[in-house]
Amino acid sequence: MKALQREDQNLKEFQELTGSMYHASYRAAWLSALFLPTVQIIAAVALGMIVWYSGDQIMVGAMTIGGINAFVSYLTFMMWPIQDLARVYAEMQHSIASAERIFKLIDTPPDVHDKPDAVPAKTILGEIEFEHVDFYYEDRNPVLSDFTLKVNPGETIALVGPTGGGKSTIVNLLCRFYEPCKGVIRINGRDYTEYTMQSIHSRIGIVLQTPHLFSGTVRENIRYGRLDASDAEVENAAKIAGADDFITAGLEKGYEQNVGEGGNLLSVGQKQLISLARAVLAKPELFIMDEATSSVDTLTEALIQRGMEALMKGRTSFVVAHRLSTIRRADRIIVIEGGKIAEQGTHAELLRKRGHYYRLYTQQFRHELEVQYGVVEEQTSEVSDAVAAD
Ligand SMILES: Nc1ncnc2c1ncn2[C@@H]1O[C@H](COP(=O)(O)OP(=O)(O)OP(=O)(O)O)[C@@H](O)[C@H]1O
Ligand SMILES: [Mg+2]
Repeated sequence: MKALQREDQNLKEFQELTGSMYHASYRAAWLSALFLPTVQIIAAVALGMIVWYSGDQIMVGAMTIGGINAFVSYLTFMMWPIQDLARVYAEMQHSIASAERIFKLIDTPPDVHDKPDAVPAKTILGEIEFEHVDFYYEDRNPVLSDFTLKVNPGETIALVGPTGGGKSTIVNLLCRFYEPCKGVIRINGRDYTEYTMQSIHSRIGIVLQTPHLFSGTVRENIRYGRLDASDAEVENAAKIAGADDFITAGLEKGYEQNVGEGGNLLSVGQKQLISLARAVLAKPELFIMDEATSSVDTLTEALIQRGMEALMKGRTSFVVAHRLSTIRRADRIIVIEGGKIAEQGTHAELLRKRGHYYRLYTQQFRHELEVQYGVVEEQTSEVSDAVAAD
């Protein structure tokens, strides 16, 4: 708001939004302030009328003063609970309105839930298959259409492609944060919706595009990966993920440093490293990294890669990355464009094809390449040949 100088505008919008609330509250306060005096005035007027009428009656001897006194007292006793009832009724109306909102939220059915006959998956190390998967988020605007992909056990898949192409969506589906709208995703040859969600999630190590930490210490945050891990295991995972350096050298209290709400006392790169350590600690069968190291400097990234390589061996991995160095080592590179596979193959194969990957690569990775190989030529073909040969 400050950077875009939106303070005044936002204040105006906020006042507009809260205006109706203000008027409704004002009216409610006004009515409730009016309510009690009205009831009391009616009571007082009634009492006045009784006294006035009974005065005559006493004169002619039809009533006694004691009788009237008793009658008025009983009447007052009766009025109290009625007044109370009116007050409680008003409060109840208020509470019902609040409760309605709360229960509406609590009763929201989750989009993805276990089938009643779901079984726990013993492993998810086997083949993973997307079969004619269609997916849209809300508005039936297809994000993936007829997406088909078969991944062999232990394979490292790199997903690349333009922004908004659907890479994170594929990852979300694989983690079963969402389920396909049409088509199936099979794990070990079985539709993954037949497995319990918990058995899938517990076997996936995931680093999301927007890393999230919980308030607590660094150590606690890494330990979320596997709650029964020892301190040594936590630190070892941090070493593999390249996080140990900044934790021990950069943070005053090291592993016991508090990361703040949502990890806001750390930089984005540091949060990514901790998320990565968390995924490493989980010893998952399936690794998913969505731009896991995008905010980490290249030197640290190279270190992480060395650590991760051993770890990824024998495990299926999905890696979404923009950096060439991360992608090149993948067994297969899948180019996603507009929710479809535009191309797939190894780095060298795709370069030779001179298609989507080649274009993406020569535009997007050019700079990185120049730094690495010292090539500063205009002809992109020579650049690609150099790398293809490499
Ligand atoms: N939660 C959501 N609700 C509605 N639409 C969404 C949601 N998340 C993503 N989309 C839409 O889905 C499309 C694909 O988004 P996705 O996040 O998969 O792209 P991406 O390839 O990961 O992009 P990037 O490289 O920027 O991370 C986009 O057009 C986006 O508008
Ligand atoms: Mg994404």
